This record gives sequence, structure tokens and C-alpha cells, in this order.
Amino acid sequence: MPHTVRIWDLPTRLFHWALAASTVAMIVTAKIGGNAMIWHLRLGHVVLALLLFRLVWGFVGGRWSRFRSFLYAPRQLLAYLRGRGRPEHSAGHSPLGALSVFAMLAVLLAQVGTGLFSDDAIFFAGPLSRLVPGDVIDAATRWHAELGQYLLLALLGLHLLAIAWYTLARRRPLVRAMLTGDRTLPEPLPDAADGRRQRLLALVIALACAAISWGIGRLGSI
Ligand code: HEM
Repeated sequence: MPHTVRIWDLPTRLFHWALAASTVAMIVTAKIGGNAMIWHLRLGHVVLALLLFRLVWGFVGGRWSRFRSFLYAPRQLLAYLRGRGRPEHSAGHSPLGALSVFAMLAVLLAQVGTGLFSDDAIFFAGPLSRLVPGDVIDAATRWHAELGQYLLLALLGLHLLAIAWYTLARRRPLVRAMLTGDRTLPEPLPDAADGRRQRLLALVIALACAAISWGIGRLGSI
């Protein structure tokens, strides 16, 4: 008998769609340049706050959003690839999906982190660039505008291709789960906590992360 299981709690879903929208907006504003860069900088703080939130949520969030639920050993990845994974390995992030999630979070963090120290030497400087020597600014700017940017675009492309493949070829409605939170599974797996208390906790963490991100932006102007 199929079981409906809450996989993605509301905070994780809001995080995901806010991150997706802000990342696309950051790419667009960077490509437009000029005055749009003011929004690029503002969105950078939004993405930083979102990433800080996700780092904390990876420890206190719902069962399937916790890092330990999708931190797999190499033999678990191999078993999954050979079609011998355990049912709970296909409920949230699969061993393969987990690799791309960690890579995406790391590359996004590096992209935002280097953005804080970047300087295009014309109009725009990251809020912390005043605090570091020129060679650090050069290295950060190069990563941000070159390798980091290409890595991020490649990972996003891979992310969308993987989702399309799982949805169309494997008939796993992953996007619906990221919208509604629920998946219909053959096994009765535990639900992610997603009640009022959990959501209030997420709100407090999100506000604290927004304040930290704003504070980091102010550091350069002190
Ligand atoms: C373009 C910017 C996007 C970024 C930066 C992004 C980033 C991410 C991240 C970090 C996760 C892990 C979620 C978590 O555990 O917190 C994730 C998962 C997911 N994303 Fe995206 N995403 C983007 C766009 C999209 C789009 C457009 C779709 C749908 C068409 C999508 C569908 C999904 C789904 C279904 C998952 C869950 C995958 C799974 O079940 O393992 N994403 N995404």
C-alpha cells in the first residue's frame, strides 16, 4: 500500500524556491551590469542569508533536510548506483543527488564569499574589499568572475537535467515534492517534523541569518 510521507518541511521548500529565484536574478543582474549591479549586491546578501539558514537547518531541520540523512558512505553510493539502495535512500536526497546538493551549496558559498571581497576596479566593490590586501581582492575577483561562475552554471545545468531525467525517465515526481513537501512511497518512512513549532524555529533562525548577512555588509563601512 502506498504511503504519503512529508519529506520537505515548509522552511526547506521556501529556502529552495527563494534560493532558485535569487540565484537566477543574480545571474541576470551580473549579465546586465551597470545599475543592475546594485541589485546584484543586494541579492548577494539575500543568498548569503539563505545559505547560512540552510547550514543551520542542516542540523536542526526536518529529518530529511538534515545533512546526516543524506551524508552517504561510498559503498552506499555504489549500492544505490547498482539499484540496491535502501528505500530511505530514495526518499529525500539520493546518494547521487546528495553529491550535487553539497557541491551546489559549497560553490554558492564560495561565489557569495568571494563576491564580498571582489572589486571590478571601475564602479562596484564588494562590501569587505576595503578590509583586505590587493592580492586577496584579485584572487577573489578572479574566482568570482571566472571559475566560480562557470562551476555554478555547470552545476545548475546538471541540477536541472538530473531533475528532468528523474521526472521523465524514472517517473519520480521530485518537483511536486519540492512544492507540496510530500512523496508517495511504497514504504512507511517517518515524516519530517513540519508543525508550527518547527516553522517558528525556522523563522527565528532565518531572521538571525538575515541580521548576520546584513551585519557582514556593514563591516566594510565601519
Ligand atoms: C536555478 C537555481 C536553483 C538552485 C540554486 C537550486 C538549488 C537547489 C538546492 C541547494 C537543493 C537542495 C535542497 C535542500 O536540501 O536544501 C535543490 C533541490 C531540488 N531542486 Fe533545485 N535549485 C534551482 C532550481 C531548481 C528548479 C528550476 C527546479 C525545478 C524545475 C528545481 C528542483 C529541485 C528539486 C526537485 C530538488 C530536490 C531534489 C531531490 O529530491 O533530491 N530546482 N535545489
